[in-house]
Amino acid sequence: MIILSGIQPSGTLHIGNYFGMMKPAIALQEKGDAYLFIADYHALTSSPSPELLRRRSVDVAIDFLACGLDASKTVFFRQSEVPQVTELAWILSCLTPMGLLERCHSFKDKVAQGISPNHGLFAYPVLMASDILIYGSNLVPVGKDQKQHIEVARDIAIRFNNAYGEILTVPEPFIREEVAVVPGTDGRKMSKSYGNTIEIFGSEKETKKKIMGIVTDSKGLDDPKDPDACPVFALCKLFADQQKLDEMRSKYLAPGYGYGHAKKELLELFESHFAALRKKREELLQDLPYVESVLKIGAEKASALAESNMKRIRKAVGL
Ligand code: ADP
Ligand code: TRP
Repeated sequence: MIILSGIQPSGTLHIGNYFGMMKPAIALQEKGDAYLFIADYHALTSSPSPELLRRRSVDVAIDFLACGLDASKTVFFRQSEVPQVTELAWILSCLTPMGLLERCHSFKDKVAQGISPNHGLFAYPVLMASDILIYGSNLVPVGKDQKQHIEVARDIAIRFNNAYGEILTVPEPFIREEVAVVPGTDGRKMSKSYGNTIEIFGSEKETKKKIMGIVTDSKGLDDPKDPDACPVFALCKLFADQQKLDEMRSKYLAPGYGYGHAKKELLELFESHFAALRKKREELLQDLPYVESVLKIGAEKASALAESNMKRIRKAVGL
């Protein structure tokens, strides 16, 4: 079974990304033939500078390796190192009705935000379909926001097969409904667009400042507090085991325990979770040739599979 997912290199990763996307993506390496790529072609739709795009792509690679991606289990590569995906995207474009793309929420949302759309942004789901179909992917794990794009990929695959014979595998989405929305320091969903993030690899000082600054209500030290309404407790749940959570829950209800105490416990949990990963990341930063070699080997494996599938596809369409 081929399991494939992609991630956009769009900035410094925070614990919402870590628990919502990175951890589940890394876990896939135990479940089948895992392919994970850095969607640098997709990132071009927001016109980053060349230096920024290059740097963010490497940063994402380092962060994933630091967080446990095992390059001997997951084929890990840059999307743009398999340029056949753009060739297939063209072929698929010629089978894709305009209306299908016009209905995509993510495009409509971006336009509603006032972004003046380029053609790449409009055609984004076709490139994503190509990413999926070129490797014959069976399962595509994504966040809820990407569900419609997988439906577009399925629709395009079915159209292709109706026109040219059973060539493409129709993929199944794997939507991570169970992954809770990680709250940010202001209690809203953690998101870089809200400025309420806690970075996974921020400095100790920055992390402390952010955790100590989490917004809580104004209950005093001796007032009983509701852990289920507290963002500090919600964040602790991501790190702590049940026993630790039960202990904290009792402390919330008892006098003499303030939000400052809870924040200190969160900081300790955060540090003990990320300390080893941070060390690994420092090592990787000192060994960029290793990171590049991982991506190169991944690109070779991915290219071999893509090219062999493309041969059949080109033939089927008459090229
Ligand atoms: P941001 O909202 O910071 O711009 P992205 O939209 O780039 O984050 O999200 C990248 C990935 O991380 C997506 O798969 C998304 O589902 C996941 N993700 C982002 N924020 C959260 C969050 N607060 N809780 C859970 N998952 C999240
Ligand atoms: N659009 C996805 C996102 O923003 C990233 C992506 C690109 C992707 N191509 C893909 C995800 C193919 C899964 C499969 O999260």
